[in-house]
Amino acid sequence: MTNADDKHFETYRDQTRVKHQILVGYLPAYLNILKITNNKIMYIDGFAGRGHYDTPEGPVPGSPLLALSLMSKNEQYKTKVACFFNEENEFYYSCLNAEVEARQTSEPMSITPVVKNLKFSEFMKYMSNRLKETRTGQAPVFLFVDPCGLSDVRMSDLVDVLRRPGCELFLFFNYDGLKRIIGLAQTISSSPTLLSLFGSEPSVSSLVNKISGLKPHQKEQAIVAHFIEALKTESGAQYVLPFSIEHEDKRMTSHYLIHATKNAIGFRIMKTVMYNAARTSGSGTCLRLLQASNNRQHMIFDTPEVADMKQRILDKISEAPQMVKLFKTTWPERPNDMFSTEEYKEALLELEQQGKINVQDEHGVPRPAEKRRPDKGRPSLGDDYFVRRSDQTT
Ligand SMILES: C[S@@+](CC[C@H](N)C(=O)[O-])C[C@H]1O[C@@H](n2cnc3c(N)ncnc32)[C@H](O)[C@@H]1O
Repeated sequence: MTNADDKHFETYRDQTRVKHQILVGYLPAYLNILKITNNKIMYIDGFAGRGHYDTPEGPVPGSPLLALSLMSKNEQYKTKVACFFNEENEFYYSCLNAEVEARQTSEPMSITPVVKNLKFSEFMKYMSNRLKETRTGQAPVFLFVDPCGLSDVRMSDLVDVLRRPGCELFLFFNYDGLKRIIGLAQTISSSPTLLSLFGSEPSVSSLVNKISGLKPHQKEQAIVAHFIEALKTESGAQYVLPFSIEHEDKRMTSHYLIHATKNAIGFRIMKTVMYNAARTSGSGTCLRLLQASNNRQHMIFDTPEVADMKQRILDKISEAPQMVKLFKTTWPERPNDMFSTEEYKEALLELEQQGKINVQDEHGVPRPAEKRRPDKGRPSLGDDYFVRRSDQTT
C-alpha cells in the first residue's frame, strides 16, 4: 500500500467527489442501454477501497457503496447486475466486506455481490476465468479501475475486458506518477511499470521517441495521446475521453479520468456527465477539473479550440441551413470530437446572440431567442429547429 492509499480515506476531496459524480452520473446511461438486450451485466470495481470516507460531517460512501445504492434502488438493475469488488489491503477489505454484507441485508441485490481480497492483477485473472464461464458468457462489463498509483495496472488486463461486446472502462490514470517514472527511469523502455501500462516494449520505445525534446505541456499531451491510442488499437474501443484533474496546490495535471467505450451514444452522454461535473465545480471546460487555478471566470468560450469549433459550425451552415440536432447529437458522437452537446448548444446560442446565425422552425418560420421557452436560464434550442447564417438570404 502506498502512502497515498494510507491517507486516501481520511478526507473526502473535491477530486474524489467529482470522480464519484462522473461514475454515478454515467452508470444509469450504461445500464439503461445494456439492460435492454442483456439479462446479466457485470460491474467490476478493481480498487474498491474501504467502503467509505471519513469527514467531519460523518462518513461519505465510496465507489462500491455508491454503485450498490444506485443499483439496488432500481428493480431492473437490482436483478440483472452482478457486482464484483476487489481490495488488496486486508483491513480495508474487511471494512468493505462488512459494509457490503450490511447493505445486502438492508437493500439486497438479487445477485449477491462478490468481494475479493486480491492484488488487482490476480483479481483480473480471477475475473477472466469468471468471464469464460458459459453462464456469464457474453455479459457486458463495466470495469472501474481506480488505483492511487500505477503499478499493477496492465494494458493487457484492460483490453481483455474492453474488447468484449458492450464492455466499458473508467480508469484513474495517474499522470503525475507516470511523469515521475518517466523522469526517473534510466532506460525507460525497461521500466516494468511502463511496459505493463503501455503493453509492450515497442510501444514504450515509440513513446520515448515521441516525447524526446518536447516541452512539458506537449509531453503531457503526447503521453496521454499515446496511451489512448494504444488502448483504442488494442481494444477496438474508438471512443475515449480523457478528463483531466489539476492538482489542488499547483497548476499542473495530477491525473486523468479516462472513459473508453465502443458506443457513440455512451461517449456523447459521458461528455455531458463530465461537462456537468466540471461546471458544478466552477471549472469551465467539459473535460477538465481546475483546482489550483480555481478560476471561476475561466469560461469555456475563451479558448482557441472553441473559436475553431464555432467557425466549423458557421462553415457547415454556409453550405445549407442545418438541423440543431446535427450539432447537439451527431457531432458529439464523432470519435475525435471532444465537445459535448452542451458546449455545442452554448456555441449556437452565442452565435445567435452575436447576430451570426438565425434559428427557424422546420417551416422556415423565425424562432428568435426571446420567443423561445427558457431552459435553465438560457433560451431553449430544440433538436428539430434549424440554424442558418444570418448573412444568407432564403
Ligand atoms: C483510490 S483508492 C480506491 C477508492 C475507491 N475506488 C472509491 O472511489 O471509493 C485505491 C485503493 O486501491 C487499493 N489498492 C492499492 N493497490 C492495489 C492493488 N495492487 N490491487 C488491489 N487494490 C489495491 C488501496 O488499498 C486503496 O484502497
